[in-house]
Amino acid sequence: MGSFCFHTSAVPSSHLLSGTDCTYGLGGLKLGNLRKIPFSRTHKASKVLAFYGLKKPPYKLDALEPYMSKRTLEMHWGELHRGYVEGLNKQLEQNDILYGYTMDELIKATYNNGNPLPEFNNAAQVWNHNFFWESMEPRGGDMPKLGLLDQIEKDFGSFTNFKEKFVDAALTLFGSGWVWLVLKRQERRLEVVKTSNAINPLVWNDIPIINLDVWEHAYYLDYKNDRAAYVKNFLDHLVSWDVATARMIRAEAFVNLGEPKIPVA
Ligand SMILES: [Fe+2]
Repeated sequence: MGSFCFHTSAVPSSHLLSGTDCTYGLGGLKLGNLRKIPFSRTHKASKVLAFYGLKKPPYKLDALEPYMSKRTLEMHWGELHRGYVEGLNKQLEQNDILYGYTMDELIKATYNNGNPLPEFNNAAQVWNHNFFWESMEPRGGDMPKLGLLDQIEKDFGSFTNFKEKFVDAALTLFGSGWVWLVLKRQERRLEVVKTSNAINPLVWNDIPIINLDVWEHAYYLDYKNDRAAYVKNFLDHLVSWDVATARMIRAEAFVNLGEPKIPVA
């Protein structure tokens, strides 16, 4: 009788093969003339592991200069963001229950109704940073357009009022965290919210439209402790209103914001 084997790419083949034999994770079960190897090694080989990759920002690392330097991107994306991804993957290796979740589901599940599981911080920080890189573009800033601008004017009174609220939230956030423009599902309106550490508004079922990293690591290389200058340059030169508009259109598929705008013939 021929033998068969399988393994995940995460497990070195040396953990699986013993001479011409092939042993796999059935709790040390011996098949045919396979040499029995310790449970811990066979069990390890039986795991199907979920891994998340490090997503690249949608531009070159020097593309946001002079407002966000290549050096900042190399450190912030290349080291810190990478560290959250690797930390999460290490944690998930130990926890089969969280296998197969999308990132959104993983964040909600690990937030655990306000009693976060150990995986929450890494999972949320991976999501938050992906969203942040995509919230910016070279030559960003300026004004939102069309429907998003209308909604901002409706919910904040004016675009200037929105910017004041956003800046105020960034400057009054104590310690580390994030500032967000979100579409609140329940209230059916846009709002500026700030969250501490890794918290992401998905945990309250709100829909993020843009975010800004206000951990000190996001700006100290370029702005030292001048958080105000960092926030101003984000709004004036980096934020991508095109991306925000696309996110808003998608969000409106889930939240009814009122009467559809039917063109008048
Ligand atoms: Fe960050």
